Amino acid sequence: MRHSPAPKVARDSWAFVSRSGFETALSMRAAGVDKALDERLGGGAEARLADAMRHALLAGGKRLRPFVLLTAAGLFGVDDARAMPAACALECVHAFSLVHDDLPALDDDDLRRGRPTVHRAFDEATAVLAGDALLTIAFEILADETTHPAPHVRAELVTALARAVGPLGMIGGQMRDLAAEGRFVAGGKPLVLDEADTLTLQEMKTAALFRFAAEAGAILGEAGADDRARMRGFGRALGLAFQIADDLLDEEASPEELGKATAKDRARGKATLIAALGPEGARRKLDGLVAEAIASLEVYGDRAELLTAAASFAATRRR
Ligand code: IPE
Ligand code: IPE
Ligand code: MG
Ligand code: MG
Ligand code: MG
Repeated sequence: MRHSPAPKVARDSWAFVSRSGFETALSMRAAGVDKALDERLGGGAEARLADAMRHALLAGGKRLRPFVLLTAAGLFGVDDARAMPAACALECVHAFSLVHDDLPALDDDDLRRGRPTVHRAFDEATAVLAGDALLTIAFEILADETTHPAPHVRAELVTALARAVGPLGMIGGQMRDLAAEGRFVAGGKPLVLDEADTLTLQEMKTAALFRFAAEAGAILGEAGADDRARMRGFGRALGLAFQIADDLLDEEASPEELGKATAKDRARGKATLIAALGPEGARRKLDGLVAEAIASLEVYGDRAELLTAAASFAATRRR
């Protein structure tokens, strides 16, 4: 097989931070995010709804999107405590996306984060409403004064998250994902998507939230347009790499490692880069995207080392 040119940054020089150093930083931040989320879901809601929201949000999850947001905020002088509300809002949206993604009407999955999915642990109607509620409280959090003292910053966060989630972002990507299975055409045969169309779909369904994670750090730090564009580019490349890795793991990892069912995408006719390019081609694209993510942070030097380690983790993770 012919090989395309190697990415500029070689795999073994991706991260200045060791893998175990990164894993420690990720789990420390995850503990902080878990605590903040637990405090936010304090109550008031009807018990079954509150229980379903907690099932979706707490106990598990790598918290990689909050990690990117908190770390990016740090790059622009905003500490974890001040960036935590926005990080919680983002994780609420991500949890919503998973609850709905797993529904019988979408991917029809029974296992998530090593536990029954929300519609299995509760019921479908409760899962729909718990997802809706998680999406809604995300915007309530962003609009709250504790997220940032300046109203224009809060408005920018709200707009950026709405764009990342909405019809031109995650939700639009999910619609394309389902359409690619062939379910809306006579005969129901999966569509054959080329590399460019597959990347557009995955940029929408997955990379948009990572793009928000990285840009939100710059928004919180009131950084300039150049910084914001760089962070968006970083988040996009990391997010695309993350989804390619997810698709490879569906074929190569076990449910025990991932906490969710595997070997399902091909049978469902999901549009993946593996389907478009084969596993070798997908892996080459993955390497190129990690190199692109890292290159986009070059101007920050060593100060961006945890973010570059996050890009490398997104591609090489086994969970
Ligand atoms: C799963 O995301 C959904 C995808 C975009 C592939 P994660 O792998 O980040 O899921 P958790 O939050 O760690 O469970
Ligand atoms: C999920 O993609 C993207 C979302 C927007 C939730 P997948 O459907 O591949 O995610 P998993 O494999 O179920 O976690
Ligand atoms: Mg899906
Ligand atoms: Mg799924
Ligand atoms: Mg998947």
